Amino acid sequence: MQVAPLSPDDVEAALALWDAVGLTRPWNDARSDLLRAMRGPDSTVLGGYGPAGALIATAMVGHDGHRGWVYYVAVTPERRGEGHARQIMRACEEWVRDQQIPKLQLMVRTDNHDVVGFYEALGYETSEVTVLGRRFVD
Ligand SMILES: CC(C)(COP(=O)(O)OP(=O)(O)OC[C@H]1O[C@@H](n2cnc3c(N)ncnc32)[C@H](O)[C@@H]1OP(=O)(O)O)[C@@H](O)C(=O)NCCC(=O)NCCS
Repeated sequence: MQVAPLSPDDVEAALALWDAVGLTRPWNDARSDLLRAMRGPDSTVLGGYGPAGALIATAMVGHDGHRGWVYYVAVTPERRGEGHARQIMRACEEWVRDQQIPKLQLMVRTDNHDVVGFYEALGYETSEVTVLGRRFVD
């Protein structure tokens, strides 16, 4: 698999993948997230491409000046278990390190807890923090 910034031609494929693997939520605008991350100076969306150029993996990575964050890590179901998620996560780490940011972190939804084993396999540890948020509604 080749990892590269997501091509604008693959925006629809990325959104379809996120939908198919259960990463989208009605209250989040995944398209606007993706487009903002693609054009922002402190973020990118990486795509993992198979030999025929098909999109098989994604990850959105960025930083807030203090920490790197990764979102929308996904591998198409038929290509799982081949190390593609590990590879795209390593590419995210490299991107964050290149920005002189010392740590990459991520949030896992409590209903997706099984995936914690994947991140642990890559050396990630549970942080002793509670994440709080406040949603702004118009
Ligand atoms: C999680 C996901 C990205 C893993 O993709 P993948 O390509 O199958 O993962 P890899 O093949 O790179 O696996 C890397 C390592 O993690 C392990 N691993 C993968 N999925 C795992 C899981 N659900 N639980 C525990 N370990 C897991 C693998 O065994 C492998 O370990 P090893 O190298 O020591 O053998 C994929 O299952 C997916 O797209 N899930 C749906 C989307 C999702 O939940 N994303 C995470 C949002 S926080």
